[in-house]
Amino acid sequence: MVTICFANNKGGSGKSTSCSNLGSALAKLGKKVLLIDGDMQMNLSLSFFDEEKVLAFAQEEQNIYRALLEEEDLTAYIKHTDDENIDIVVSTTLMSSIEMDLFSKWQREFVFRKCLKKIKKKAEYDYILIDSPPTLGCWVMNILCVSDYVIMPVEASPWGLFGLANMFDFLDKVNEIAPDVSLLGILVTKVDERKNYYKQTMETLHSYEDLPVFDTVIHTDSAIEWAQDASSTVVNFKRSSRSAKEYVKLAKEVDGKCQ
Ligand SMILES: Nc1ncnc2c1ncn2[C@@H]1O[C@H](COP(=O)(O)OP(=O)(O)O)[C@@H](O)[C@H]1O
Ligand SMILES: [Mg+2]
Repeated sequence: MVTICFANNKGGSGKSTSCSNLGSALAKLGKKVLLIDGDMQMNLSLSFFDEEKVLAFAQEEQNIYRALLEEEDLTAYIKHTDDENIDIVVSTTLMSSIEMDLFSKWQREFVFRKCLKKIKKKAEYDYILIDSPPTLGCWVMNILCVSDYVIMPVEASPWGLFGLANMFDFLDKVNEIAPDVSLLGILVTKVDERKNYYKQTMETLHSYEDLPVFDTVIHTDSAIEWAQDASSTVVNFKRSSRSAKEYVKLAKEVDGKCQ
């Protein structure tokens, strides 16, 4: 079982879109996937359930926030989705206060590790994929501390690479308490080949020695927005679309790297 989180402190870089679609694509390859939504924006949850359902889970306190607050085993919080290979732990807007809630806890960097312990031990899933908020605080540190790998989505735009250095510094700090988590790769998203900037982004990334960059890139594709509008992933919603095919290609690349 491999645990991968999606992290980048820049919002809008494609973390949630990539987490949900990689999940769907791995499921199509026959992998059993557990998705965990760690962001108060609930975008990952909303890719598998409509808003009404996600809000109902919030009211029933069936979400990641409650589990963290109570430091409970996450198993009871798992929801099945329509896709038989995908289960999910949903989020809630209450995650907006998670930093403060974690602050007073004993071993606050490892609260999530405690919640995931039994699931990891059982190893019923091939992959656990975790979506994170665009912050670099104690909660994201918790997420990194349970992960084997990080995928860092980066938007192919002038500001896409901005702040990446902060991300690497943060990962170095995390490695002091969780030495095994490493960068699986930078994933370039929202590529528009009509814009020259894409080439510059790729050149800049490839100029760093030892920086893993996925061969697969994700192009800008309106099918992604239509899928989100239908509370779905593009892999499930329109398999023939360019971005769906790219996420399936990414899934094969990720699976190859994780063997
Ligand atoms: N390849 C893409 N093509 C078109 N729109 C995209 C693509 N990837 C992401 N988006 C859109 O960009 C916005 C930000 O993406 P999102 O995955 O939510 O980023 P993050 O989770 O990093 O904040 C969303 O509205 C999403 O629909
Ligand atoms: Mg997001």
